[in-house]
Amino acid sequence: MTISKVGVVGCGLMGGGIAQVVAQSGYQTTVVEADQSFLDRGLQNIHRSLDGLVDKGRLASEQRDAAKARLTGTLRVEDLGGVDLVIEAITENPVIKKETFARLDRFCAPHALLASNTSSCTITELAAATKRPAQVLGLHFFNPAPVMKLVEVIRTILTGDAAIKTASAFIQSLGKTPVAAQDTTGFIVNRLLVPYLLEAVRLLESGVASKEDIDQAMKLGCGYPMGPFTLLDLVGLDTTLYVAEVMFQEFREARFAPPPLLRRMVLAGHLGRKSGKGFYDHPAR
Ligand code: 3HC
Repeated sequence: MTISKVGVVGCGLMGGGIAQVVAQSGYQTTVVEADQSFLDRGLQNIHRSLDGLVDKGRLASEQRDAAKARLTGTLRVEDLGGVDLVIEAITENPVIKKETFARLDRFCAPHALLASNTSSCTITELAAATKRPAQVLGLHFFNPAPVMKLVEVIRTILTGDAAIKTASAFIQSLGKTPVAAQDTTGFIVNRLLVPYLLEAVRLLESGVASKEDIDQAMKLGCGYPMGPFTLLDLVGLDTTLYVAEVMFQEFREARFAPPPLLRRMVLAGHLGRKSGKGFYDHPAR
């Protein structure tokens, strides 16, 4: 099966980034949002990001215009009847995700693949909410989606080989590299990354070093592009807390237990870049 039309459900930080990459790569892309103001803001962010690439000389203005022309927005899941692949990137709530997959299953063409960008939900549970579990899989992109080269392709015990093959070829056509993983909470990257981020918070809590020095240490000592506290602010402290809690529930291992400081920062509304303050201050741009 070849993919030519793609639906992206959710146009927030991840959904918007994914929709941008998909439209830039030549696919007709339909973005679905729950509310007109979210949709307008999401599409505006994509347009602004494409304009920024032109300003930096990374994209020709004709390519930008073509990408914009391939993008349409809607508030109706029913409008995804003609797409070959849907990538769901809505809020990390398993109940809402399951409902969304059941609706997608009802309205999408029988051949369409249904993928989730979830970082914490069980793909098997989403597959079981549909009548096409062999065509349901995970496609886990990384933040910022237009920049990061990796996509984890997640297979459940119900996913068919054909779906994995088609989805992996699609990811390559976006200029990204797919890696395969089984449907286990955290997949590959978060299984390694989340304990690392939590340990950085514990190091700070226990007074071993300042956040600036911990960040500097991991940048200069290990060659990481950003230190753990800068990365926590990028990913979102609430997102990290939520993923850690789900991983702790799944594995019951202390390394996934969120440290008290992380929970308190989230309770205080210090969520990272998205709220203007996390471990660092992020004045509105
Ligand atoms: N959106 C789009 N593009 C962005 C961006 C954003 N949010 N942030 C940076 N960029 C672009 C810049 O415009 C720049 O593009 P250019 O080369 O065309 O000028 C390029 O990325 C490099 O940016 P900068 O020069 O400003 O800064 P850096 O060199 O530090 O790169 C970075 C920024 C790419 C974010 C880099 O620091 C990095 O790779 N950081 C690690 C990010 C990471 O680990 N992400 C994974 C998070 S975990 C996750 O997503 C999983 C989830 O389930 C929790």
